[in-house]
Amino acid sequence: MKHNKGVLTAPAAVGDPLSAVDTPSLVLDLDSFEFNLNLMAKRCRQNGVDLRPHAKSHKSVEIARRQIAAGAVGICCQKLSEAYPFAEAGIEDIFVTNEFVGEKKVAMAIDLARRCQLTLCVDHPSQVVALGAAARQAKVRLRLMVEVDIGAKRCGVTSYTALLELVECIREFNGSLMFVGLQAFHGGAQHIKGWSERHEAVLHSNEIVTSYLLRLKDAGIDCPVVSGSGTGTAEFDLSSGIFTEIQPGSYVFLDGHYGSNEWSGLPQFRHSLFVLSTAMSSNGESRTVFDFGLKGVSVDSGVPKILPEQGGQSLIVTRVNDEHCVVESQSLSDLPQLGKKLLFVPGHCDPTVNLYQQIVCFRNGVVESIWDIDARGLSY
Ligand SMILES: Cc1ncc(COP(=O)(O)O)c(C=O)c1O
Repeated sequence: MKHNKGVLTAPAAVGDPLSAVDTPSLVLDLDSFEFNLNLMAKRCRQNGVDLRPHAKSHKSVEIARRQIAAGAVGICCQKLSEAYPFAEAGIEDIFVTNEFVGEKKVAMAIDLARRCQLTLCVDHPSQVVALGAAARQAKVRLRLMVEVDIGAKRCGVTSYTALLELVECIREFNGSLMFVGLQAFHGGAQHIKGWSERHEAVLHSNEIVTSYLLRLKDAGIDCPVVSGSGTGTAEFDLSSGIFTEIQPGSYVFLDGHYGSNEWSGLPQFRHSLFVLSTAMSSNGESRTVFDFGLKGVSVDSGVPKILPEQGGQSLIVTRVNDEHCVVESQSLSDLPQLGKKLLFVPGHCDPTVNLYQQIVCFRNGVVESIWDIDARGLSY
């Protein structure tokens, strides 16, 4: 391991039983992971929609390779720096689904475009002008998607005029910039807990995207790609006839927050990502403290969960401090003893993954491989 400097022992080795993995460690149940990987790929195939998974969730070249082997057309990244390890590892087709501003970023985009087929996201003419001038000078061709706000109230243009103006601006750099389509992602809709309410939100977003597409058609502008969607709305977006590609990220892991969404009767994604942790202290009466905290799990979407088969019915995480996770139980007999190891489902996978250097992958209780989290900390 790169960070060991020969002094620290590695937390795990291939062939170790999971019970011997040092903690806290980020671990992946390969059977559930592969189930998720194949389920999303199959649904996309069945609906004739391209799958371009979001690598912001896993930041791992190995996972991106497996997604592509399962049928993905390429990947999404959220930041230019995040895209580098993937481009360097030979992932050919990358869409950076986020706006950026500034000379350094533009230079990074030009450099990245020499390493892969790069698509970028814009929502203001000044971004287009900066990219156009740089691409022209560098003799590089950039593919641009215009982001439209479909209800998320985050980035994206909010009027037909702004959309048409941007496409016009892109066309002024003909030969250096190319308009390829619309980025239409509604982050807020993904986690609407109720299935019907989530569907309702998607129908509303669809009306917005459709009206933008009609305006482009009326103006005689070709829009080959409509990209968007996530784990929470994919089942609706795949059959809407609007999206040519979807960009779900969390489906490979299904974190705790997604686990609390209400889903349809279709086969569903499974929890595959866990923090493995050891009970390090207990008052022997009501609480046991596990050896991970905020530096090992993100709690922005709730505290980690303990699955029922791990004793989760009577065990509740009541507090997460920097390096402590406090678990309480009403029943003394269920209280984990010192040394007991448990798997915790993180509330939010993306920021949790970003806290670790590696994912320890296991099958049937044995470590099968260890994957680097290559883009860890690359958020600029
Ligand atoms: C632009 C964009 N696309 C796709 C995704 C993937 O969504 P999810 O992880 O919910 O599947 C995200 C997640 O935040 C996102 O910001």
